[in-house]
Amino acid sequence: MDKVVVITGASGGIGAELALQLGAKGAKLVLSARRKPELEAVAARAGSESLVVVADATVRGDMEKLRDAALQRFGRIDVWVNNAGRGITRSVAELTDEDIDVMMRDNVKSALYGIQAVLPHFKSRNAGQIVNISSGLARLPLAAFRSAYSAAKHALNALSACLRLELKQSHPGITVTVVMPGVVATEFGINALGGGPDSRTLPGAQSVEDATKAIVDVIESPRAEAYTNPATKADVERYYRDVEAFETEVAARFRR
Ligand SMILES: NC(=O)c1ccc[n+]([C@@H]2O[C@H](COP(=O)([O-])OP(=O)(O)OC[C@H]3O[C@@H](n4cnc5c(N)ncnc54)[C@H](OP(=O)(O)O)[C@@H]3O)[C@@H](O)[C@H]2O)c1
Repeated sequence: MDKVVVITGASGGIGAELALQLGAKGAKLVLSARRKPELEAVAARAGSESLVVVADATVRGDMEKLRDAALQRFGRIDVWVNNAGRGITRSVAELTDEDIDVMMRDNVKSALYGIQAVLPHFKSRNAGQIVNISSGLARLPLAAFRSAYSAAKHALNALSACLRLELKQSHPGITVTVVMPGVVATEFGINALGGGPDSRTLPGAQSVEDATKAIVDVIESPRAEAYTNPATKADVERYYRDVEAFETEVAARFRR
């Protein structure tokens, strides 16, 4: 694959696996997160031409520096993956102001800063792909305890769709893609604000290798949306057909 790909949150989980799978295909990688040793270990395993940039996705200036470092090293960016994100374990009744702010910062502003950093470069070429890693919870009320995370990912989907529509008119060469994983066996659960269940032990968790293949696929064949697990897409279709019936079924499934 002859593409320069920037990945945020590449030090672990889905972002690290994406680096490995794209590296195996020969992509040039720009790997970013806050933990340098972990990033360097991923870069070494990716076995491809790569650049490591320590950056916090929730700091706008860091995303601008990430873009500049990528352009300086490779001369262009073809794909920018906004993958950094964080969950929460808190019911709506218990949410604090800070919970909401952290979820919006870590899941919406982080991606927005990435989008706004790379967009001028993509517009100047009328080419490029933005991939936002969202969640099945951006469409489905399957996990009430993820509350503000689910809301933030809904917001990310909405911003992505607005951007896609805008660019269709002005810069049709740029693709905006939303990928919606189901539960994936990473450290996401234990990294959630407030702790909570380990995603690796949840029933139906998809392996990180399988989930990541869907992201590689949308980079090889750019399109608007993808689910990493076909069961999520089927659930979304059922949900929009009959919201009340779906919620009743989910509530019964999880009733204690
Ligand atoms: N696993 C799931 O079940 C699941 C399901 C649906 C959607 N997703 C989404 O998939 C994406 C990746 O999740 P994951 O499962 O791989 O989670 P993870 O195992 O917790 O990994 C998160 C990655 O993001 C980085 N990160 C977190 N905050 C950051 C920040 N402020 N700036 C830069 N990097 C940051 C972390 O690295 P550092 O700590 O080194 O910065 C780490 O590399 C997230 O957007 C998540 O919402 C996950």
